[in-house]
Amino acid sequence: MEELQQIGRTYAIWRKRKLSYFAGCDYFRLASHPAVMAAVKDGLGQFGLNVAASRLTTGHHALYARLESALAEFFAAPAAVVTGNGYSANLIAAQALREEVSHVLIDARAHASLRDAARYFACPVLEFKHRDANDLARRLGRLRGRIKPLVLTDGLFPHDGEIAPLKEYARILPARGWIMVDDAHAAGVIGASGKGTAEYTGAPRERLVQTVTLSKAFGVYGGAILCGRRLRANILRRSAMFAGSTPLPLPLANAALKAIEVLRRDPGLRCRLSQNVNYLKSALRSRGLAVPATPAPVVSLVPRNAAEAGLIRRSLLARGVLPSFIRYPGGPAGGSFRFAVSSEHSREQLDDLLTGLNFALCRRRRRHILKGV
Ligand SMILES: Cc1ncc(COP(=O)(O)O)c(C=O)c1O
Repeated sequence: MEELQQIGRTYAIWRKRKLSYFAGCDYFRLASHPAVMAAVKDGLGQFGLNVAASRLTTGHHALYARLESALAEFFAAPAAVVTGNGYSANLIAAQALREEVSHVLIDARAHASLRDAARYFACPVLEFKHRDANDLARRLGRLRGRIKPLVLTDGLFPHDGEIAPLKEYARILPARGWIMVDDAHAAGVIGASGKGTAEYTGAPRERLVQTVTLSKAFGVYGGAILCGRRLRANILRRSAMFAGSTPLPLPLANAALKAIEVLRRDPGLRCRLSQNVNYLKSALRSRGLAVPATPAPVVSLVPRNAAEAGLIRRSLLARGVLPSFIRYPGGPAGGSFRFAVSSEHSREQLDDLLTGLNFALCRRRRRHILKGV
């Protein structure tokens, strides 16, 4: 692990150099938004840091109920449950769904938190090909009896920004099936009003469980499960993790409420993000690259070998851009350069990134080296 200090919203100090920062997932830079930061301070002053008790004992506070209403409203879901973070949102939802499900079908590249969540089920867990509705249909077709399958998938896959075809999954799912979508990267970002993958793909909300993090588009910390009222009641009744853990610190709940308000009230944020995404992707496309025309603010570049990785790295550093090379579970085994665009990056920074990548693009010409969505 290497130390890195984010500064000035879109920069980072790395090895004593100030570089443009196109990594991470703070897509609107709300982590450094003045109103969101002020809400942390206000929350701390008003409520203290920690309720130091489970919500099911003496740790329930009015702020959690307010945050859940705001989240349910933002995502147009019947109900919401706030969780300690996005990872535990998947585990908690799984604990509550355990008795409702006969088979689990999980995308081959699902996030680690969904894989962990799958362990809570006492039924068969089957893998289907990455984002492949036909393969899912085939596997569902082989199951016999009155099945109640649960599909587990990311909405927007974080390593390359590909999007799960949720509407197709919903279409082929039997009536008593469920879809649980980990929308950590899609929530607040994609869909006409930022509701995430279901909104973007046009999938219905019925029998859909959406888990989100509050640490990416919302820039704060924490997580949530957006679901029906019955599942919410089952979470409170059946999830040992929900029952046995301390909830999100109140200053963060206060900040999350503010972040939701900022995202709702300032359409400029989503507008600037989409402008930046379009600018970067169309520039890459104009250099002959097959960059799919979808709104994910993520582009990834898989180097062909260590020598090429070194060259790309030097080329980016020469333009003052952090060479964000990561190995991410579910992503390419050897790692990839992952660039995340935010609403706050300037045109100059985008141009620096493009110039830094130019070298690699020229060398490879029209080959599909960039897989972004
Ligand atoms: C797809 C996905 N799901 C869940 C999580 C976990 O969210 P959190 O960091 O809030 O625990 C992450 C990453 O952080 C993620 O990328």
